[in-house]
Amino acid sequence: MKVLIVGSGGREHAIAHSVAKSSRVDRIYCAPGNGGIAQIAECVDIGVMEFEKLAGFAKEKEIDLCIVGMDDPLVGGLVDVLEGEGIRCFGPRANAAVLEGSKAFAKDLMKKYGIPTAAYANFEDPKEAVAYLKKGNFPVVLKADGLALGKGVLICNTLEEAVEGVRIIMEDKQFGSAGNRMVIEEFMTGREVSVLAFVDGKTVKTMTSAQDHKRAGDGDTGPNTGGMGTFSPSPFYTEEIHAFCQTHIYQATVDAMAKEGRPFKGIIFFGLMLTPEGPRVLEYNARFGDPEAQVVLVRMKNDLLDVMDACIDGTLEHTQLEFEENAAVCVVLASGGYPLSYEKGKRIEGLEKFEHKENYYCFHAGTKATEEGIVTNGGRVLGITAKGKDLKEARTNAYEAVNWVNFEKKYMRRDIGKAIDEA
Ligand code: AMP
Ligand code: GLY
Repeated sequence: MKVLIVGSGGREHAIAHSVAKSSRVDRIYCAPGNGGIAQIAECVDIGVMEFEKLAGFAKEKEIDLCIVGMDDPLVGGLVDVLEGEGIRCFGPRANAAVLEGSKAFAKDLMKKYGIPTAAYANFEDPKEAVAYLKKGNFPVVLKADGLALGKGVLICNTLEEAVEGVRIIMEDKQFGSAGNRMVIEEFMTGREVSVLAFVDGKTVKTMTSAQDHKRAGDGDTGPNTGGMGTFSPSPFYTEEIHAFCQTHIYQATVDAMAKEGRPFKGIIFFGLMLTPEGPRVLEYNARFGDPEAQVVLVRMKNDLLDVMDACIDGTLEHTQLEFEENAAVCVVLASGGYPLSYEKGKRIEGLEKFEHKENYYCFHAGTKATEEGIVTNGGRVLGITAKGKDLKEARTNAYEAVNWVNFEKKYMRRDIGKAIDEA
């Protein structure tokens, strides 16, 4: 079987790594891929938004399955284009990927179907947004409606900050057209958990839980990033919480999408907050999380291609997902200065130390293969991932392995998984 993966991050490296383990795969291509993916797949220089080129390539190479890892092409309708050309795809069509593509859509869906989430209002007019804020409580959360690389969320403590936030999102358009509409949301407190699930349009099967660390600095300080590290499972995600979410959130969401004539096939990432009043949805994503995929997929026992086939064919009901009874931690090594400004092109030393090491993985995110070797090519550079018998061991192992590689201005958070000490 020939598989094409679309994307270039640590998530796509983790997906490629899992696909490579499948007994059914003969050849893996990745567009555009990165320096690490190139070691297990043939990387092709086509951008993720070049839909016609991707379709042409998939037809020419007779690709049996295309896996779309990233949000932009999913929301933009890559699956629709590829399927229109007769190419089998894993991932939601545009009318379902809107679950991630529009926060206003997601909030309205949750309201209509009684899925627990923060109270909110949607706005298209900045003046109306400000008038609403003047009547409300603080802190308050402002969210640009569209995709904004995980950065379009502002938590505002005062009316002044919130008014400034409306200006940033809706008038200055710092997040581009994502800010044409905006959600204003009640501020919630609690632990965050990421639960990723396979969905076949009607059945939803969740994977083991994970937790991300979105802020750049230790102790959850500094600007928001794409994610600085993860651990799996979350010790705070109990059986009881799972049972509640399965009925009131996961199945409810999948049923709601089907009722709306938008059957969802692919991955739904449920970003949850465990509030004192119970679990609430913070956000939905229509794809694997990055770096959640890195800690979840390495613990999955199933053949990933079998599960993806079941999602596409609508037979997920008969699939039993199985995860190892251990834990994993991923520490992101970033370029100093990320997410603001940072340099690229720094040579990365020590990558070979991960070869043939069981339970240690070096997933590449922003890297590039050059004649001088592998160099940094982005803000998040590597996702150093390790397994252990429990979370503490996995964390010790991951923080041991971060020392095996080096590049100029290597930066990481030192407290990934610290929360588990409170469990
Ligand atoms: P999102 O992209 O919607 O997940 O938001 C990014 C981050 O902002 C989340 O991971 C939370 O840490 C925070 N956040 C989002 N919505 C809320 C909310 N209603 N209350 C408190 N924090 C929030
Ligand atoms: N790690 C969060 C995300 O992938 O959106």
